[in-house]
Formats: sequence, structure tokens, C-alpha cells
Amino acid sequence: MNTDDYINLFDELDDNEQTENFINKDKRRQRFPPRHFKYVRAANAEFLKGQDDSSKSFRFTYPAARFEEWWLLESIGDFYEHKWITDVLRRVKGGKEASVYLCRSGAAIDSPLVAAKVYRPRSLRNLKNDGQYRTGRADLDADWIAYEFQTLEMLHAAGADVPKPYAMEKNAILMDYIGDFGNAAPTLNSVTLDPGEARLLFDRAVWNIDLLLSNQRIHGDLSAYNLLYWEGDITLIDFPQVVQPETNPAAWNIFLRDVTRICQYFNAQGIKPNARKLAADLWTSHGHRIIKEADPRYLDGEKEEDRSLWEKQKVKYMSFKFT
Ligand SMILES: Nc1ncnc2c1ncn2[C@@H]1O[C@H](COP(=O)(O)OP(=O)(O)O)[C@@H](O)[C@H]1O
Ligand SMILES: [Mg+2]
Repeated sequence: MNTDDYINLFDELDDNEQTENFINKDKRRQRFPPRHFKYVRAANAEFLKGQDDSSKSFRFTYPAARFEEWWLLESIGDFYEHKWITDVLRRVKGGKEASVYLCRSGAAIDSPLVAAKVYRPRSLRNLKNDGQYRTGRADLDADWIAYEFQTLEMLHAAGADVPKPYAMEKNAILMDYIGDFGNAAPTLNSVTLDPGEARLLFDRAVWNIDLLLSNQRIHGDLSAYNLLYWEGDITLIDFPQVVQPETNPAAWNIFLRDVTRICQYFNAQGIKPNARKLAADLWTSHGHRIIKEADPRYLDGEKEEDRSLWEKQKVKYMSFKFT
């Protein structure tokens, strides 16, 4: 199979995941001509035949679709082999970049349940190396996962309210599961707080933001969507895009955006924080300078000062997606 075939297969998986809650067969039929399914079925069979994987001894409770099952075996089979987990019970959520699965813990973990964040195959599109596709051993950008894992380790050790990380594999991270057997913790954006609790949790969120800064970290995608709420406590999640204040010229803007989004949620819960002032106070209390961004239209290419400002700034334009 060539790269395009693999991409088609992974697209199928992504589509399956995305439509899980509103499967509409007619719509799907409209999107793909009938030949497409025949083709995909044949390609599927060939593909699965090629997967002779020792982790196949791992059978789990969660009734995964075929490619999802393969992807799970590929991504978290080693967690099973190394006895971090004994079962996959269900999918908690299919997120933007990753799906999170509730797993039963193995002996090495104290709590009975644990969460596996498994990156979606969509990210494979960025793969540069054809050979990796051909062997069917699809590595995501391992550095990216390692960065999220190490950030979690460091912040957990520093005492931040983050899930404890246990293990990582090339596509997946194993960490504390927030919730109970029946329900995963909701994200904070879906929760309405009473006034006393809103104040406590706002203070706690700010405490965490401050603690991250003390450890030279900015979350970078902080909002009520990346805070879990469980039994009166918050947990910060989702760390692949963390940035460091000293090394990123757009750091102040990213930090300001994080603080602003958190303030937006708490504003709706009756706390009326001044986001900009709060961000500026936190930022400067850690010795950072507020670097105002210059609009590229007003920079003068003839001036050395403007050119060096743009050199610093353009990193942001090239490497960050502002949503
Ligand atoms: N440790 C966890 N315990 C329980 N649920 C989790 C955990 N981590 C993530 N989730 C759930 O999975 C979703 C996606 O995880 P997240 O890390 O935010 O990835 P994404 O990049 O896909 O947003 C979250 O919104 C949350 O509902
Ligand atoms: Mg998220």
C-alpha cells in the first residue's frame, strides 16, 4: 500500500470517530461514491493482514471499530505489555487532537482507573517519511508527545493541579483519570458554579497559572475547556503546546490570552476580574517584561531596530495558530 492508501484509511478512522454521535448513513453515502467503500474494504483487509503484532494478545472490553482497535493496540499495547493497564473500558472523549480512553489500571498504579490519551491518526498527515507508512508502524512526532509528558511530570512534581502522568508511548500518554467509573469529570465550561465556589476556583486557577510561571511555563491553550471539574476541584489538562516565557517572543501575548480566557469563564460565573491587569501583575511579578507587539504594517525595513523586532515577532506568525 502506498502513502495515499494509508492516508485514506486513517481518514476513515477519523471520520468514524467524528461521526460517532450522529451517524448518518445517507450523508456518508453522499460523501463517498460506492466504489470508495469497496476499495476501502479491500485495502482494510490487506492492511490488517499485515499487522502481525505481539500486543494482539491484548483483548479489551471497549468495543472499538476495526481501525480504532488497531490504532489502540498500536498506541497503548505496550502499556498492557508493561502491566500499566489491564483493560480499556470505554472512550471518554474524542477531542481535537486526541481521544481519551478510560482504562483499568494494572498493579503498578494505585488507583483502579487510569486515562490514556491517544493521539488521533489525523496528525499522521504531517509525516515526512514514507517508509514509516509502508511498514504500518506509524509514529507520530514522538518529541511532541514526550514534551507533553515531561511537562506533566514536571508540573505534577511542582505541585500543580494536573493529572499524575505514569507512562508514555509514541502515540499515547497514560495519566490519572479524573472522574469515576460512571462519569468522567466534565470540562469546567459546562459547569455552573455557585458564587462561593466560583471565587475559590478562580483563585485556584490563578494559583496554578502563577505556579506554571514560577516553573517557566505558560499553558498556551488554557480555557475552561481544558480545566476538568470534579468534586469541587479543578485539574488543568492538555499540555502539548506549552511555551516558555523566556524563549518565545510571543510569550506575553500567549499568556495574556490564557488569562483572558480563564477570566471570561469566571466573569460569567459572577467574578469580575480585570484580565489584563491580572495578567500584567502576574507577568511582571516574575520579572518578565511586557513586550507590545508591533503591527508589521508600521515597521520600517530600513531600520535595524524594526528589523530585529520583526525577526522576533515573525516566529509567532509562523508557529502559532490563534483561534
Ligand atoms: N485525565 C483525564 N481524566 C478524565 N478525562 C480526561 C482526562 N484528560 C482528558 N480528558 C477528557 O478528554 C478530552 C480531550 O483531552 P485533551 O487533553 O483536552 O485533548 P485535546 O487536545 O483533544 O483537546 C478532555 O476535554 C476531557 O474531557
Ligand atoms: Mg483539550
